[in-house]
Parts: sequence; structure tokens; C-alpha cells
Amino acid sequence: MCYNYIRLCLPQFADKVPNIIKKGEMVMNVLIINGSPRADGNTSIAVREMENVFAREGVEYETLRIGSDAIRGCIACGYCSQNGRCVFDDAVNKAAEKFEKADGLVIASPVYYASANATLIAFLDRLFYSTGFDKTMKVGASVVCARRGGCSATFDELNKYFTIANMPVASSQYWNSIHGREKGEAEMDEEGRQTMRVLARNMSFLMKSIALGREKYGLPETEPHVFTHFIH
Ligand SMILES: Cc1cc2nc3c(=O)[nH]c(=O)nc-3n(C[C@H](O)[C@H](O)[C@H](O)COP(=O)(O)O)c2cc1C
Repeated sequence: MCYNYIRLCLPQFADKVPNIIKKGEMVMNVLIINGSPRADGNTSIAVREMENVFAREGVEYETLRIGSDAIRGCIACGYCSQNGRCVFDDAVNKAAEKFEKADGLVIASPVYYASANATLIAFLDRLFYSTGFDKTMKVGASVVCARRGGCSATFDELNKYFTIANMPVASSQYWNSIHGREKGEAEMDEEGRQTMRVLARNMSFLMKSIALGREKYGLPETEPHVFTHFIH
């Protein structure tokens, strides 16, 4: 388990680390999955706003842009239930190792036909289905980017990965969307970019608060999962 660990900053780097990392302070770690196939596209602008806040908050992050990778969907083979990893040894298994260590997960997607990018959905289905590690209280945040329509449907779609996995969802002062069509246009969406900054601040606060709460109270009690399939 890496979250909630205490890292002592080396004194020689003290003036280089972001302002709120002080000696002995908890350092949170976020994995960001950007589902856009376009390098430097509009989704990346939203992600960059969040990255800048994380850096200022002393939150470590790593961003993987997977939207142009060849990622196939789940084939329901059951390999993962025996082996704890997906049968297709690609970006999903690599991300799974990082996800297990992370305190938070950001999922960002361009909107395609009022839905998330299909490559990202293939990735997320396999990431969540194939990983047996406990995701309880890792904080999730989803981000969507569209020219015009389908943001809230896509936002709902992405949040469902968190809310089936005991993951609290960070929110902002608006639903987490940013607008633009051609590359770079989202720079002009002042409100969208602000929404992302607020989201990243709220997410940082949530992760740190959960880390403290976990030390004081421990994680919530768990029960063996009952699967009834609505039949028996
Ligand atoms: C296949 C496809 C479908 C799209 N569908 C929608 C849509 O349903 N609603 C919308 O507002 N924009 C739609 N767009 C526009 C993108 O969401 C928009 O260009 C966005 O900025 C892309 O983000 P990116 O620059 O990070 O790739 C679509 C774009 C493509 C390529």
C-alpha cells in the first residue's frame, strides 16, 4: 500500500518542491488517464489545468494518454479472475500497477457521439474488471471535453467506474466539462479551465483528508460481496 505514507523531503530539495510539501507531510499520488487520441488536444488542456494545481498542491501525478493506442475490449475469458491481471498484456496491465499504488484516479475523455472515446472505454472495462486490488477510498474524478453536446452523459458514464468500486468522487463547482473543437480551442473556455482547477484542488483536499481519516479511523468495515444476479 503506498497511500498514506509519510515522505521526508530531503533538505537540499526543500526550496524546489511545491510550496505546501513540508518535512513529514503526506504526499498523495494521482494517476491520470487521458483518453484523447490527439496530442495537445482539448482534453489535454483540461488535464494540464489539473496537473498545474497538483504540482502546486504537492500532489505527485503521472499522465498516460492512451487514446491512440490499439486497445481491444474485454473478451470475458475469465483469465483475470484466476491471475489478477488481464490476458492481454498491454497498457491496461501497466496502468493497473500504477493504479494500485495511487491515491486518486482522473479519467479524461473527449466526447464522441455523446459518449466517451471507445478506446478509453475498452481500457477502463478491462482495467476495472481485471484488477482485484482494493480501490476503497481512492478518489476518482472524471473530465469530459466536447465541441458542444453529450458532456453530462459522458460524465455520468465515466463516474460509474468509480461508484461501483467504493471510490468517492471529487466534484467541482460545475460538471467537469470543457469545450472546444479544433485543437487549442479549449484555451478560450475560461469557465471550463476554472472548473478543472477547482476540481483538482477539491480532489487534493479529499485525498489528504481521507489519508488522515484512514490513519485515525481505518477504512470502513467490509462485507463479503453478495452477487445475486437478481435471481438467487
Ligand atoms: C468521432 C467523433 C465524434 C464526436 N462527437 C461529438 C459529440 O457527440 N458532441 C460534441 O460536442 N463533440 C463531438 N466531437 C468533437 C470532439 O469532442 C471535440 O473536437 C473535442 O475537442 C475533442 O477533444 P480532443 O481535442 O482532446 O481530442 C466528436 C469528435 C469526433 C472525432
